[in-house]
Amino acid sequence: MTPDEFAYTAGFVKERSGLVLTRDKGYLLENRLMPVLRTHNLKSFSDLVARLRNGESALHAATIDAMMSKDTAFFRDWKPFVHFRTVVLPNLAVARGIKKSFRILCAGVSTGQEAYSLAMCVRDAPALEGWSVEIAGLDISASALKIADDACYSQFDIQRGLPIRTLLQHFTKEDDYWRLDPSLRALVKLQAWNVLDEMFPLGRFDVVLCRNVLVYLDLQTKLDVLQKLSRLLVDDGVLYLGLNETITGVSGNFRAVDADAGIYAAHRGTHPSALSLATKIETQRKTRRLFSTGALFRFASGAAFSQRRRLSSSRFRQLRFRAGHSRGPTRFRYSFRRRWPSPASCAACK
Ligand SMILES: C[S@@+](CC[C@H](N)C(=O)[O-])C[C@H]1O[C@@H](n2cnc3c(N)ncnc32)[C@H](O)[C@@H]1O
Repeated sequence: MTPDEFAYTAGFVKERSGLVLTRDKGYLLENRLMPVLRTHNLKSFSDLVARLRNGESALHAATIDAMMSKDTAFFRDWKPFVHFRTVVLPNLAVARGIKKSFRILCAGVSTGQEAYSLAMCVRDAPALEGWSVEIAGLDISASALKIADDACYSQFDIQRGLPIRTLLQHFTKEDDYWRLDPSLRALVKLQAWNVLDEMFPLGRFDVVLCRNVLVYLDLQTKLDVLQKLSRLLVDDGVLYLGLNETITGVSGNFRAVDADAGIYAAHRGTHPSALSLATKIETQRKTRRLFSTGALFRFASGAAFSQRRRLSSSRFRQLRFRAGHSRGPTRFRYSFRRRWPSPASCAACK
């Protein structure tokens, strides 16, 4: 491939998918495009580039598809799935308890293992029985989506990350392949979509995964995609990225919960980030308590110190009780211990 042909093809791939190919990736380009040459009976890369320039749409799609790295696995990297199962799902069971539904987006779902791993976590959560759960899987690659749609995996795919108990629980053997339980398959809706395009028609999501997709993009494209993903997420939503895709200091739309595991919470000025679905429920309870008692503290202390003379003694006793000065619920007394003077030293109480 000549430098001019490389420059044209790399520019074309970047414009259509965001993938950045530097000059040292010439070998990658040639390796991945070789099957396209064979399938379309092209004699050389020059032929391919000439027909790309001519705007042959079938060849455009085949070139982009061939250039995508589709590597994936069930429960890939494990830690994000432990977080999803042990923190996010219990939080959703509480926070969405009234509407009993939530939505998850897998952007760059590849051959489906990531989305089906989530579906297995959802199915194994007894608290979510009877809930309406939608997992949307998007990818730019038609060949990857075809495999995801079939949901039938080789022994090699299965061996990468799927525990044997989970395999036997959710798959049935078909010759040399393993087919996913159709009821789990039905939880996942697959769609051809480019993450560079607007995504608002998809609606909003409680959880978004965009793992091992941004790593191939340049900084500006990454920021654009993150901006789009942030608009898709609900205020207390969770974003999962790949382990090597840290965005700390890159995007103000997300707050790292565990950057090493690629776990981020949507960061909104108006929403207390500790109340995110990504935060353990005990931490959320503490935060809620601090918020409510903090407001009570300001109200009660202002009332007690500046308006004591104007308050009836029973009202004042009530305020002291509620703020933890006299006997009352332990949680209030605990939260005020440091800030509120002890009844013995408090001028208002003497
Ligand atoms: C390395 S795989 C990651 C799969 C899965 N998310 C995981 O972490 O195991 C990256 C996937 O992102 C898809 N992808 C890359 N660029 C994309 C784009 N602009 N729009 C949609 N999908 C894209 C590729 O086709 C590929 O299937």
